This record gives sequence, structure tokens and C-alpha cells, in this order.
Amino acid sequence: MSLPPLVPPIKCQGIKTKLVVDIRQLIDGREFDRWVEPFCGSCVVPLNLQPPKALLCDSNLHIIRLYRDIQQHKFGAGDVRDFLRDEGAALSAKGEDHFYQVRERFNSTPNSLDFLFLNRSCFNGVMRFNKRGRFNVPFCRKPDRFAPAYITKIANQVSAISSVISQLDWEFRVSGFRETLSEAKAGDFVYADPPYAGRHVDYFNSWSEEDEETLGDRLSSLPCGFVLSTWHSNEFRTNQAIEKKWRGAPFRVFTKAHFYHVGSSEDLRHPMLEALITNFPAKHVAASQKPVQESFLMGDSLFDGLQPMVATS
Ligand SMILES: C[S@@+](CC[C@H](N)C(=O)[O-])C[C@H]1O[C@@H](n2cnc3c(N)ncnc32)[C@H](O)[C@@H]1O
Repeated sequence: MSLPPLVPPIKCQGIKTKLVVDIRQLIDGREFDRWVEPFCGSCVVPLNLQPPKALLCDSNLHIIRLYRDIQQHKFGAGDVRDFLRDEGAALSAKGEDHFYQVRERFNSTPNSLDFLFLNRSCFNGVMRFNKRGRFNVPFCRKPDRFAPAYITKIANQVSAISSVISQLDWEFRVSGFRETLSEAKAGDFVYADPPYAGRHVDYFNSWSEEDEETLGDRLSSLPCGFVLSTWHSNEFRTNQAIEKKWRGAPFRVFTKAHFYHVGSSEDLRHPMLEALITNFPAKHVAASQKPVQESFLMGDSLFDGLQPMVATS
């Protein structure tokens, strides 16, 4: 029986909880010394794959601070419980004013517990920062957001990831993807999950054509294996970059329907065909399944039996 997936205590746009099983399948049988993730976000992928050694980077310093604080035991599940109970009580008593007070406090003196509070009580659980790097997501409008069961759930998530992180040799670092990838060496394995161009643009997620091209160039010349997550298509458009950049050996393109449920607009909630691109053949994808590019061109899924995902919160 497999263990239930580890759920990170923070939510972020483009979180890959639903792809962990597929990424695990793609890399099954591969050996590597170090897992390198230039866009680690919530860290849901490494938290579930649990590579013994990892370099986990993101340009969002608030995410990295949170994981470092947990790693260095600056706070634990008990502190989270106490903090959310007290702040949750103030939220119930004062309503949205309290949310905006915490948001102001965080924006003037950023710290991990306020970040957690905001992330778990803001509108739609999105993480968005304005041009000046200030968190600017409005309140979810539920003054009783921090009910005891919700606090326990978050405290348990912190406890679970804390015990994973403390047993492994992981480094969390604030870093742009260019610097992170320049460090990758033979024997590493890279999982890259960049922002999807034109989707969630904010202070930490602006993503230009040039970024996309540079990332493609850096990945294709890596001295080690990689998996790149990107979007393949939705009902409105198709990702032309896949055809342009990743067609032909040694690259493989795998697709899977995925349902977005973290987003501020209806557009972000449309079903999306996800692509996982590798620079190696996937050992455990059944031989009966079609070669990747054919599948890509025909737009069907290589992952036998996997269905479009349904939203959960
Ligand atoms: C799609 S999210 C990653 C989600 C993550 N895989 C997960 O499952 O939670 C993209 C991440 O890239 C980070 N990011 C955006 N631009 C970046 C850059 N130039 N260098 C490094 N990280 C960047 C964002 O802060 C965001 O956390």
C-alpha cells in the first residue's frame, strides 16, 4: 500500500501535486547523486520523491525562507498551531481588517509565519506579489478561516515536512534559474517547472520569451538528465515551443490532462494538457504506447489509464 502524498503547508500557482506520480514513473530506475530544482515552488515534488541530496532553488525568497526556517527548526508544528490559533481568533473578531494588518506587517517585515497565515487565508490560495515585491492578494472573506481542524491540518503538514527535511541533505537557496542551472553537473538530475508564459505573471513570476529560450538552451545542453514541466495545450491554444524546441531525439514529450484549481480567474481553471519533457527514454512507459511525438501530434495521453484530474481544495 502506498503512503498518502505529502502535502506542503503552502499553496502556489502551478503546484504539481497531481504530477508527482508521473514524474516518479518517468525517473524510475535512474540513478543520480543530487536532485536539482531551479523552480522549486511549494517543493511538492521533492517532498514526495525524497531524494537524499537536493539543491532546491527559487527566486521567491519568502518560499525559501519558510523552508529554511523549518529546516533550521526556527519554528515547529506547535508554534504554527499557537500562531494560527491566536491570529485566527483575531481574524474572527476583527474580520478582514486583521488580514490586511497582517499583510501590512508581512510587507514591512517579511517573516515565515505571517507568510503562512496569508497564504492560507488569502483569496483562492494564490501567491502573488506586486511590482514592488509586496504581497497583494486580497482576503478570502472567511473570517472563521482558521477553524481548529484547519489549524491542525496545517500544523500536521509542517510537522510531516519537517521530519522529511531534517533527515535529508537538502539545500534551499534563493537563486535565479540561470545560476542554478550553471551549477548542474554530470550525476545530477534536474526537474524544471518554470512559470507558464502569460499565465501567472507577478513579481516572482514574470516569464519572458527570452527566459523561455534561455531555459530551453540551458536544459538541452545539460550534462545530466532532466524533466521539464510545461503546458502542451488547452482548448484555446497549443504551446508552439514544444514543437520548435523539443522535437526529436534525445527528447521525449509525454502528455497528461491536468486540472488547474489554483487561480484567480476562470481562464486558469480550464483543463490543461500538461507536458513532461525528458532527455532520456522513460523505461517504464509501456512499450505498447505510441512514440512520444506521434502522441504529441495527435494530442492523446501517453499515460495509459490516467484521466483528467478533478479539482480538490
Ligand atoms: C510553476 S512554479 C513551480 C511550482 C512547483 N513545481 C510546485 O509544484 O509547487 C514556478 C516557480 O518558479 C519561480 N520563478 C519564477 N521565475 C524564476 C526565475 N527566473 N528563477 C528562479 N525561479 C523563478 C516562482 O517563484 C515559482 O515558485
